Amino acid sequence: MDRNLALEAVRVTEAAALASARLMGRGDAHAADRAAVEAMRHAFESLHIRGTVVIGEGERDEAPMLFIGEQVGLGWGEPEGRSPRVDIAVDPLEGTNLCSTGASDSIAVLAMAADGQFLNAPDTYMEKIAVGPEARGAIDLLRGATWNLAAIAEAKRARVPDLTAVILDRPRHAALIEEVRKAGARIRLIQDGDVSAAIATASADTGIDVLFGTGGAPEGVIAAAALQCVGGGMQARLRWRNDDELARARKMGIVDPDRIYGLDDLAHGDVMFAATGVTDGAFLGGVKFFGGGAKTSSVVMRSQSGTVRRIDSVHHLDRKPNYSWLTGLGGRD
Ligand code: FBP
Repeated sequence: MDRNLALEAVRVTEAAALASARLMGRGDAHAADRAAVEAMRHAFESLHIRGTVVIGEGERDEAPMLFIGEQVGLGWGEPEGRSPRVDIAVDPLEGTNLCSTGASDSIAVLAMAADGQFLNAPDTYMEKIAVGPEARGAIDLLRGATWNLAAIAEAKRARVPDLTAVILDRPRHAALIEEVRKAGARIRLIQDGDVSAAIATASADTGIDVLFGTGGAPEGVIAAAALQCVGGGMQARLRWRNDDELARARKMGIVDPDRIYGLDDLAHGDVMFAATGVTDGAFLGGVKFFGGGAKTSSVVMRSQSGTVRRIDSVHHLDRKPNYSWLTGLGGRD
């Protein structure tokens, strides 16, 4: 994946973050999400790719934009071969409720890979364990949290009480939370946003060692793309809410419904990941507005080189006519 493309991709997540951050704290998660989706869709129009959305806002009949199968990028209007063909996984606003309440850790995310390198995950749940590079070979989803905590502690030359696990605060996790408490690890319960939490395991500064629990399957694939770039580890298993979901998954090519997926099964090969903070978080700062513009904080990573590049941008929106679609930001029409 071309390194310049990675730098271009960050403009797409910046656009989504700028648009949704404008609506932070308004109590309207749907509006914030829609703003992010529209901004991201618009920003794709300046990218020289032949992109196909494989993880997006849902299937064609339920999503007007960035639906699964949608073709995005300038490349489709150019002669064949001029722009790379890529599969795209997007979550224009990961943590819609976090943004609508102004809580931390909502981000705009995008991952790209060559054709067929992401799991085409159905929109169902996924049970996940995610860790950073030191513990990448230590985890096993078939064993319980107690076993995994001991293995992660050993890999990190720490003790279980030194570890912090992130878990989505959901009733379905009551037994898991109880088990982690009994094992003696610290817990950070989060309201939403398990992509940020998974990525946080790969950075010592965050103090997060492991993500446990069940969240969205599309979010799982996006988190895997990021962990692939930084050398982290992940195991996952799809979790079905009903027979209908299972039937749809079979149509999408899922043969074994109980299969345990490793990191390479979720996202492999040459992968690129970009994210921009919407609200402040452990991993990325949120959008800060000033008169006529805004500052954003992003990260871009590529699995090929392993480079993690942090990009702080100052956007003078009043000087960018092509940002006029960001209504209320001060851009000229
Ligand atoms: P949205 O951005 O779509 O609101 O997703 C937020 C999120 O918390 C994800 O990070 C997580 O994977 C999923 O929702 C968990 O689903 P649920 O809220 O149904 O438990």
